[in-house]
Amino acid sequence: MLVIQGCVRLLCILLAIVSSALQTDTASITMLLRDSTSVRMRPVTPADRDQLVRGFEELSEEARFQRFFTPVARLSSTQLDYLTDIDHVDHFAWGAESIDGAGIGIARYVRTGSDIAEAAFTITDDYQGRGLGWWLFQALAMVAADHQLSRFEMTMLADNSAMAHLASKAGAHFEPPTGTTVRAEVELNPALWSDLPRSSELRRLAAAVAAAA
Ligand SMILES: CC(C)(COP(=O)(O)OP(=O)(O)OC[C@H]1O[C@@H](n2cnc3c(N)ncnc32)[C@H](O)[C@@H]1OP(=O)(O)O)[C@@H](O)C(=O)NCCC(=O)NCCS
Repeated sequence: MLVIQGCVRLLCILLAIVSSALQTDTASITMLLRDSTSVRMRPVTPADRDQLVRGFEELSEEARFQRFFTPVARLSSTQLDYLTDIDHVDHFAWGAESIDGAGIGIARYVRTGSDIAEAAFTITDDYQGRGLGWWLFQALAMVAADHQLSRFEMTMLADNSAMAHLASKAGAHFEPPTGTTVRAEVELNPALWSDLPRSSELRRLAAAVAAAA
């Protein structure tokens, strides 16, 4: 009888360990867009090089131009290193992927001063205008604040109404245009990400990759 009780207890402990491992498998966080499409968000790592290449191929010429301000046919090996081999503290990026694993968006900050970082966003054409850019903005701002950043600076083409709208929604102050571009700055404060779904899990995931880096 004692042996059976011991086996049952051991089984319970094993089940608890497996269940706990599954619950803390935070490799990515699933989110529902407002049209109920499921997407996953996770920090970008060096393993994302190929997905970044494929996601870039999905971008229209116009979207590439809006992101890089120049025609870009493909990302070079040096650019791929820079965009994926990151420390998750001074340089952090959220990647979004569809449920079938296609890269659909990236939000990135790179520290440019003691409390300020340059932020940039790219959503593939099929997913633009569906709320993903705003979520990535919120999640990026939250992680940046956790790393003692208090401002984002962003440079966009003066005719980029989607990015201007996204920045305005975050309370950005715009400088007068310089040539074809406009610089904007956003103060990072918790009100910005107050309605971000699954924010605690996203925050934990970002902290875990920073700690592991
Ligand atoms: C700019 C970009 C990141 C915005 O992401 P997105 O997922 O399309 O934006 P969202 O769907 O989250 O929309 C955010 C807000 O912008 C508005 N918006 C979206 N597209 C818009 C457009 N073309 N014109 C005006 N407003 C627009 C949305 O209505 C929303 O505002 P609301 O909540 O008040 O309705 C995306 O369009 C993109 O990747 N563009 C190409 C690359 C680029 O321009 N990068 C920026 C370089 S810094």
